[in-house]
Amino acid sequence: MNAMTEVTTAGETRQADPVRQMEFEERMVGALNEAALMLMLSLGHRSGLLDALAAAGPVDSVGLAEAAGLQERYVREWLGAMTVAHVVELDAGSGRYRLPAEHAALLTRTGDANLAAMAQYIPLLGAVEDDVLACFRDGGGVPYHRYGRFHEVMAEDSGQTVLPALTDHILPLVPGLTDRLRAGIEVLDIGCGRGLALMQMAAAFPDSAFTGLDLSADAISWAQAEALRRDLHNLRFEIRDLRDFDVTAPEAEFDLVTTFDAIHDQARPLAMLRGIRRALAPDGVYLAQDVNGSGHHHGDRDHPLGTLLYTVSCMHCMSVSLAQGGEGLGAMWGREMAQRHFREAGFGQVETHELPHDSQNAYYVCRP
Ligand SMILES: C[S@@+](CC[C@H](N)C(=O)[O-])C[C@H]1O[C@@H](n2cnc3c(N)ncnc32)[C@H](O)[C@@H]1O
Repeated sequence: MNAMTEVTTAGETRQADPVRQMEFEERMVGALNEAALMLMLSLGHRSGLLDALAAAGPVDSVGLAEAAGLQERYVREWLGAMTVAHVVELDAGSGRYRLPAEHAALLTRTGDANLAAMAQYIPLLGAVEDDVLACFRDGGGVPYHRYGRFHEVMAEDSGQTVLPALTDHILPLVPGLTDRLRAGIEVLDIGCGRGLALMQMAAAFPDSAFTGLDLSADAISWAQAEALRRDLHNLRFEIRDLRDFDVTAPEAEFDLVTTFDAIHDQARPLAMLRGIRRALAPDGVYLAQDVNGSGHHHGDRDHPLGTLLYTVSCMHCMSVSLAQGGEGLGAMWGREMAQRHFREAGFGQVETHELPHDSQNAYYVCRP
C-alpha cells in the first residue's frame, strides 16, 4: 500500500490518512478471511465434520474422513482452512488435528450455542445474491421459495434462541401463564415455520390445544410429519397466507397468541397484528419475540450483531415481504416502531422485555 493515496470523493480530492487506510485494509483483509471461515464452518456443520472431529479427538485426515463417512481429499482441504483459521489445532509431528474443548462448545451440536449452525446463513444468503441484485436494479423482492434451506436453518436458529429458554424464561414473562397452560387453553402460533416451539409447548402442556399457521407448505408439511413422529395429538398445523388476517382471523378464539421472529418479514405486519388482536379472547395475551433494533442506523452502530442483521434483512426479511407486494419493514424496524404497531393494532397494554440469553431480540407482552 502506498504511503499517500489521493482520493476524490464528492468532487473533492484529498489525501487519505495512511495510518487509517492501513488499519482499514487490515480490517478488510481480516473480514475476507472471516467470511471464508463462515463458509467452511457451515460445511463443517452440515457435513458433520465438526461433530466428528470433536468426538474423535486427535485424528489425521484419513481417520476423520472415515469417522465422518466423507472423502478424504475434501476433508484434508477443509482441515487446512480450519487450521490456518486457528479453529482447529494441528500437531505437525503426528499430522493429527483436534478441536479444542472451548471451540467444540461453540461449534458442535453438543454445546449450548452452536455458532456453526448460524454460519449457514452466509451461504444461504449468498445463493440468492443474483436475485437480490436484480431487485436493487428493478425493485420487487425475492420469494420465499428461492431460499432453498431457509426454514431448516431458521428452525435450527430458533432451536437455540427460543427452545432452551421457552419454559423457564419466555413463558414466565406473562405471570400465571404456565398455570393456565397446565390447566388447558387455546394457543395460536403465527408464522410458525417448522413449529418446534409449538411442539415443545404441546408436549409440556398436554391439556392445552395448539395451532400453528404459516405460508410455507414445505415448513408445514415438515411440522405435521414431525408432530406425528413425536405422537403429539393436541397440535395442528395449517398452511395459511396471513396477508389478510385482519379480516380472516377468527374472533376471540385464542387465550394465547405467539409470534417468534415472525412480524417484521410479513407482507402486511399491521394487518397481521390486527388479526392477532381479533383472534384473542378478552383476557387473552399476545407474546411476541422480534429483532431488537433501535430503528435508526446511527442507533444500531454498536449492536453486537448489527452487520449480520442488516444483511439478513436486506437479503431476506425485507425482500420476502416486498416479494409479496408487502411493506418491506425489514428486520431492524426497531423497538419504538414495534410498540407503535402493537398499539395501532388495538393492544392497550404493551410491555417490552429483554432476556439475557438473547441479545438479538426483544420480547413484548401485549394485552387488549
Ligand atoms: C423468520 S421466520 C420465523 C419462523 C418461526 N417462527 C421460527 O422462529 O422458527 C418467519 C415465518 O413467517 C412466515 N411467513 C412469511 N410471510 C407469511 C405470510 N404472508 N403468511 C403466513 N406466514 C408467512 C414464513 O414462512 C416464516 O416461516
